[in-house]
Amino acid sequence: MYQKIDEIVRRAGELVRSAHNIEDSVQEKTSHCDLVTKYDSMVQEQLSKELLEAFPEAGFYGEEGDICNIEGKSAYFIVDPIDGTTNFIRHARHSCISVGFMKNGAMEYGAVYQPYTDELFTAQRGKGAFLNGKPIHMRRVPLSESIAMFGSAIYYRETIPATTRIMAQLLPIVLDFRRSGSAALDICYVAAGRADVFFEACLRPWDYAAATLIAQEAGGVISALDGTPLRYYDRCSVAVGCPENHAELIQIALKIAGEPNMKGRIR
Ligand code: IPD
Ligand code: CA
Repeated sequence: MYQKIDEIVRRAGELVRSAHNIEDSVQEKTSHCDLVTKYDSMVQEQLSKELLEAFPEAGFYGEEGDICNIEGKSAYFIVDPIDGTTNFIRHARHSCISVGFMKNGAMEYGAVYQPYTDELFTAQRGKGAFLNGKPIHMRRVPLSESIAMFGSAIYYRETIPATTRIMAQLLPIVLDFRRSGSAALDICYVAAGRADVFFEACLRPWDYAAATLIAQEAGGVISALDGTPLRYYDRCSVAVGCPENHAELIQIALKIAGEPNMKGRIR
């Protein structure tokens, strides 16, 4: 059944790969660093058409236009047509299409497709995580042996102090940092053992819905930075790691969240 989602996501990848004159359609969304192109909307339109044709009873929650047709639906898609839009605009070839499928209040399926490397990360709840059909597993390491990926949550300026405080605490401990510009791919990289831990102080559900299921099914632990469950209906912070480094990360984040000037900065 979910093979259909994989096919649709791969087809959306063809549209991303074939994009041209991307610079001509760049627009600002909420600020000068929050950009969108005509391709973001085109890819979302194609995904929504094909996904809802294949699953007519499902709802659709997508980034572009903040489309949220999920009322009264027991199943719906959570979609980021292009995660890593700034990379896409700069021809960095590090972006992805992210489709999560939520059923009865739980993530049931996730597909994250990197069209430039032809890498499809997938997971079905309880059935493991895969990269192009081959099982993937997270590494089990403490923070001291971890490569840390992070996002700067740059659209939410109020989170900058929390992000920089967490980075300052982590840098002397971890092996090193990576910052790629696509939260969904970051989380999949952790799932596949290319890195070991991920955090971002504020993300929207389409950035993490599919990828966090993939990470969980690869043996990982997922939560907000305060250790509470992820909120798939709202923006929230995201922490992903193996049981060992995730626990250490949450401890650091909770300590920082308790500092006087941090009130409400980690959601
Ligand atoms: C963004 C990317 C980025 C992360 C931002 C996201 P977008 O998504 O995932 O890595 O730091 O918080 O919003 O805007 O490229 O779809
Ligand atoms: Ca996007």
